[in-house]
Amino acid sequence: MGFEMNFEVKDKVVLVTGANRGIGKVILEEALKRGASKVYAAVRNTDSADDLVNEHGDRVVPVRVDLEDPASITSAAKVATDVDLVINNAGVLKVKNALDDDAIEALQFEMNVNVYGLIRMVQAFAPVLKANGGGAIAQLNSVASVKTFGDLTTYCASKSASYSVTQGLRETLRDQGTQVVSVHPGPIATDMGKKRWLRRHRRLAGIGRHGNL
Ligand SMILES: NC(=O)c1ccc[n+]([C@@H]2O[C@H](COP(=O)([O-])OP(=O)(O)OC[C@H]3O[C@@H](n4cnc5c(N)ncnc54)[C@H](OP(=O)(O)O)[C@@H]3O)[C@@H](O)[C@H]2O)c1
Repeated sequence: MGFEMNFEVKDKVVLVTGANRGIGKVILEEALKRGASKVYAAVRNTDSADDLVNEHGDRVVPVRVDLEDPASITSAAKVATDVDLVINNAGVLKVKNALDDDAIEALQFEMNVNVYGLIRMVQAFAPVLKANGGGAIAQLNSVASVKTFGDLTTYCASKSASYSVTQGLRETLRDQGTQVVSVHPGPIATDMGKKRWLRRHRRLAGIGRHGNL
């Protein structure tokens, strides 16, 4: 994807999806530390950003975004008209291999959030970024975008697709001056990061899918 990104967060307006917990929360806090003038916490349930508002005051502005709900995204783009940097961090993971009975349902769910959600976000926010001089989009992809792990097959397929879309966006948005960056973390100990290890632990302990652990 190239590494010529040059974007200063200081004094910029940032929007982070899934900002209420996990990686998104850390990104929001880091953007504030780096001097962002405002960070929109784009979350499914705006109450989940209460702690962030209590801690950081009016530099944090909660806005409702559910990546599965196109109307929530178009409404958010009408409110957050001053955004310079969109960080699409929110994502979902099912621990499924291709032979699991519900593999197709899992993949449909992951595609809807991780891929169609990205497309919905850029369709709504690319015009906002353009109007504000170009700006940038960062998409949280994964090491799973380039390497498939058997027990995470459907997740990896969705993250591979979101990486593919991100690469396309990089070209598509070049002419309007919007930088596009694909981020590929390895495992991080968030709620999502723990899911896979929980399942492995269950298997090793001989506890079934619905057992308590
Ligand atoms: N953790 C890892 O090991 C790892 C590694 C590489 C890449 N990543 C990627 O990094 C991103 C963040 O992961 P994480 O580990 O921080 O996950 P997480 O702890 O499970 O948090 C997921 C976040 O996404 C939000 N979200 C889920 N579905 C949503 C939807 N339909 N609309 C809007 N928001 C939604 C959640 O909101 P609620 O609180 O409302 O559920 C939550 O804020 C994901 O894209 C993930 O694929 C994670």
